[in-house]
Amino acid sequence: MEISDRISVIMDDIVTQRVDAIVNAANNSLLGGGGVDGAIHQAAGPELLEECRKLGGCPTGEAKITRGYNLPAKWVIHTVGPVWKGGMCDEDRMLYRAYRSSLELARQYQIRSIAFPGISIGAYGFPIERAADIAVRSVWDFLTEVNTINEVILVCYNQRAFNIYSDALKNVINNIALDQKRSNGSSK
Ligand code: APR
Repeated sequence: MEISDRISVIMDDIVTQRVDAIVNAANNSLLGGGGVDGAIHQAAGPELLEECRKLGGCPTGEAKITRGYNLPAKWVIHTVGPVWKGGMCDEDRMLYRAYRSSLELARQYQIRSIAFPGISIGAYGFPIERAADIAVRSVWDFLTEVNTINEVILVCYNQRAFNIYSDALKNVINNIALDQKRSNGSSK
């Protein structure tokens, strides 16, 4: 299955996604919050917070897993993206790792389909175009190495985010195609 067939961008509410796992844009405490964190806890019910309490928090760039309770998704992977501080505090690498840590956990749990929100682009203030490029690259890199996950959905909550994440995905696909054309050309 082509990588481009395994990654998609949609505009929807992440809590309704019928996938094996949805990813939560959490904070280091893992004790809930606003934004998508609040929406996921609201939809999953109080047992989610009860399980989160036992996890002892989560460092930025890492991920931890719980059950999904009342969500359609069986699992919730909680990851903590970086707070944007101007770009000189390793934010890019931390955001890349937040996606990768979530995917590595998904692989460990034999998860086949996973949906991500826009990590760090809300309260954490990460510039959305930059975040979208990092998100797509991190997922793409992982899918080139691992073929057990056959569906990664980037769920956007509004039209602007949808346009930006869709463009980021198109750019990666076009650049890969260009590289392949160049390498085929040079190998002749
Ligand atoms: N489905 C999909 N996306 C959503 C939903 C939803 N139900 N609700 C919000 N979003 C989008 C926001 O519009 C934003 O684009 O998720 C993106 C991430 O925004 P935040 O939820 O603010 O996450 P983040 O920027 O990573 O900040 C994390 O916010 O909620 C707190 O506890 C959380 O402290 C942590 C911080």
